[in-house]
Amino acid sequence: MKDRLEALKQEALQELEQAANTQHLNELKVKYLGKKGPITEVLRGMGSLSAEERPVIGQVANDVRAAIAEGIEAKLEQYRKEETERKLRQETIDVTLPGRARPAGAIHPLNKVIEEIEAIFIGMGYTVEEGPEVETDYFNFEALNLPKDHPARDMQDSFYITEDVLLRTHTSPVQVRTMQRMKGSIPVKIICPGKVYRRDDDDATHSHLFTQIEGLVIDKKIRMSDLKGTLQQFVQEMFGKQTQIRLRPSFFPFTEPSAEVDVSCMMCGGAGCRTCKQTGWLEILGSGMVHPRVLEMSGYDPEEYSGFAFGMGVERIAMLKYGIEDIRHFYTNDLRFLQQFVHI
Ligand code: PHE
Repeated sequence: MKDRLEALKQEALQELEQAANTQHLNELKVKYLGKKGPITEVLRGMGSLSAEERPVIGQVANDVRAAIAEGIEAKLEQYRKEETERKLRQETIDVTLPGRARPAGAIHPLNKVIEEIEAIFIGMGYTVEEGPEVETDYFNFEALNLPKDHPARDMQDSFYITEDVLLRTHTSPVQVRTMQRMKGSIPVKIICPGKVYRRDDDDATHSHLFTQIEGLVIDKKIRMSDLKGTLQQFVQEMFGKQTQIRLRPSFFPFTEPSAEVDVSCMMCGGAGCRTCKQTGWLEILGSGMVHPRVLEMSGYDPEEYSGFAFGMGVERIAMLKYGIEDIRHFYTNDLRFLQQFVHI
């Protein structure tokens, strides 16, 4: 029995030597030390031994079992260690490697300028209104004192969808929609940013799609000087404290009187340069006192109320402010252009 136990021990230790992984070792554990293993079997057969032999063989059996168990544990421990080391090696991080740059998106320069203009007017107590880009003839023209066949409709060549539906040519229809919704209540003090469409041939300064911001104020005793003061304040916040405006007589069917507004050239400070064509002034918007007929048509008694309105092209403002020479840059999505505005 003693020989058999010794042989078992040799056999087990040899197999152990060749065990290639922890799974194999666990199998050996079951095989030699398990309830159905050979050592248990030997111990079970001890009944047939004499009283003197029993403790001796018992001792040998326990030693063999302990030796095998120890051998397995030692080897398991070794494999665990190796495994941990391998993992650690695999997972080492080279902190000196340069990071992977994730390109960040940014707000489009046009939207930035819209937000900037909105912020200036919100600061003066205005709220922001929006309206549909597909508009009816009534809101785009008729209610703005431009009846059918009015020659001034030619000022804004339009994309018609049906005879009565078109892509809005300006943001002024939002004035009408707001007035009608407010049903004669005051004050009306809104700006309306949005896309507008005209049948223009695209070039450096024209685009069939562009962006306008409309302004409308209606209250009692609103005067031309309120318009002038508001726009003066706006341009100083937009282009800098030294910026001046001047009003030139103009014509719009929906305002009377009407004025074209120029700002002193921010490139040369008014001295005359290429940007302002040596005049010292740049035209930036159209404006005027809301025509009595426009007030009346949308429910405001012109005897009691008056108002001013203005409309500006956002692209033009952005081009002047940031020295952009071609309006098409806003729409061609060239990253080299767009990325210049990430940090403004
Ligand atoms: N709607 C005019 C245009 O697009 C601009 C404007 C708005 C003029 C409001 C006067 C008052 O040309």
